[in-house]
Amino acid sequence: MRALIVEKAEDGRTTASVQEVDEGRLPAGDVTVRVEYSTLNYKDGLCIGPGAGLVRTYPHVPGVDFAGTVEASEDSRFSPGDKVVLTGWRVGEAHWGGYAEKARVKADWLVPLPEGLSARQAMAVGTAGFTAMLAIIALEDHGLTPANGEVLVTGATGGVGSVATAILANLGYDVAAVTGRPEQSRYLAALGASKLVTRDELSETVKRPLEKETWAGCVDAVGGAMLARILGQMKYGASVAAVGLAGGADLPAKVTPFLLRGVNLLGIDSVMQPIEARKKAWARVATDLPMDRLDGMIVEATLDDLPKLGAEILKGQVRGRVVVDVNA
Ligand SMILES: NC(=O)c1ccc[n+]([C@@H]2O[C@H](COP(=O)([O-])OP(=O)(O)OC[C@H]3O[C@@H](n4cnc5c(N)ncnc54)[C@H](OP(=O)(O)O)[C@@H]3O)[C@@H](O)[C@H]2O)c1
Repeated sequence: MRALIVEKAEDGRTTASVQEVDEGRLPAGDVTVRVEYSTLNYKDGLCIGPGAGLVRTYPHVPGVDFAGTVEASEDSRFSPGDKVVLTGWRVGEAHWGGYAEKARVKADWLVPLPEGLSARQAMAVGTAGFTAMLAIIALEDHGLTPANGEVLVTGATGGVGSVATAILANLGYDVAAVTGRPEQSRYLAALGASKLVTRDELSETVKRPLEKETWAGCVDAVGGAMLARILGQMKYGASVAAVGLAGGADLPAKVTPFLLRGVNLLGIDSVMQPIEARKKAWARVATDLPMDRLDGMIVEATLDDLPKLGAEILKGQVRGRVVVDVNA
């Protein structure tokens, strides 16, 4: 089978290249999947490159997501021919992942491909889009409805941000999209954003911990000073779903918005999410994400393109969602 193999030299440097690999080298697992598509997330950029401590052993096959067809199964829940999708569970980090023509994983990690989605569409969604859906479900569970007011999405041209914008707009929300790439305003408007907020407007914390109550909800892919600033702009009782750290892992915030405005900070993890919540989120993706808007986010790629794209996503230079045809 062909696979993107990352190797580590004695000096610690990593190199990634497409190679022929014997299938016998696939890791242990009870289901073997013929991978059709994979995708590119920020974390994939790390695992294609220096690893950032995520990859345990080399040579390594990255790819935290894949969709394909079951080839062989030792688990009664899956049979050859079943269409499946996998995101997270540290696949592509601690376990060989989706940047190969085949993958072998635990049956517990697989979700049947949701009705109404193709393998290619599922990977256009990928961990980024699945996480955006989890964030929106968490906001809804904490009372968000379109009548509450404008919802902010940060890192809006990125994977999480693009899918969050498209789903929220489709559900009838007014979406304010925060971006450092204002030249992408037409892209964001096409996804359904009704307002553009430049990154500069929110990139610094201010002395006043409470500002004008502005946002009814927020899907935050950026973290850092921007998240701290946003907390002080949330409406009374509103929630922020903290998804990412594209702008930094520190949170230089005051507790005042929690105490005086009842603001909620909701943590979102996609990697270890229990299976029932996964099925629910994928079913919501299939119904709530307009497929024409998803098509507008897609950048096509092959395994050979991944070393370059991996470096680009780490620099915030990838727009929307990359779909990797592993058999091309
Ligand atoms: N919690 C989870 O389970 C989970 C799952 C998936 C992803 N994540 C995390 O969520 C984040 C986004 O993932 P992604 O796949 O959407 O990545 P992505 O496609 O690279 O998008 C990140 C976006 O953030 C913005 N950005 C980049 N650097 C920034 C900076 N220094 N300051 C402010 N904004 C910046 C950019 O958008 P603009 O150019 O539009 O500003 C960029 O496109 C990452 O940190 C990722 O690790 C977490």
